[in-house]
Amino acid sequence: MRFGYASLALIVFRVFWGLAGTRYSRFSSFRLGPKVLLQKFPELYSTKQSNSAGHSETGSWSTVLLLTLVTIQAGTGLFISDDIFYAGPYNPVVSGSTAGMLAYVHHINFNVLQAVVGLHLAAIAWYAWRKKENLFSPMLHGNKTVKPNLAIPSSHTGRAILAAIIAVALISLLVLLAPEPSMYDFF
Ligand code: HEM
Repeated sequence: MRFGYASLALIVFRVFWGLAGTRYSRFSSFRLGPKVLLQKFPELYSTKQSNSAGHSETGSWSTVLLLTLVTIQAGTGLFISDDIFYAGPYNPVVSGSTAGMLAYVHHINFNVLQAVVGLHLAAIAWYAWRKKENLFSPMLHGNKTVKPNLAIPSSHTGRAILAAIIAVALISLLVLLAPEPSMYDFF
């Protein structure tokens, strides 16, 4: 559950960063739209390197997909229970049938999440092998060498730290303000 809270805080941070982060992190720089994806899909097979900065069409889609799936996973976790030892902090506010339905989503979505993570890793390996393009390092540390006209002037580290503090504070509040578990009513 603590890892779940940490992933929620990361999601909140990434949403802030998507709205007020650096140029290529912003959602407004994402290349989305089904047409765009279909047009660009054949390029995945080509050996030509993109040499671009920011998220490609497939990168934009996979970012949005992963953010959505992790949000669903951790979001549903808040409301469910295993009916024995563990219950998410907001389990008392939903009915048993709603909690059951959300637990079903929590279990199914985990399989979808694993499949998409696997696909993502496979795509990185494909880029490294087919296009000789290293996507792993830029994803790990956020830096990529590009032509000067594509570069960003600053990483806005101070703003990022502030966004991280706000994200952790919001998720901490979410957990701290949760209602008392209903089982305490018995004591
Ligand atoms: C990205 C984050 C999360 C992942 C990947 C994840 C993954 C999982 C998985 C795989 C299970 C099934 C375990 C099993 O059947 O043995 C599970 C169950 C459970 N999770 Fe999560 N979870 C996440 C977030 C959360 C959060 C934030 C909470 C609550 C604060 C939570 C609460 C629970 C509970 C109560 C169960 C037991 C439900 C049951 O047995 O039906 N999870 N989780």
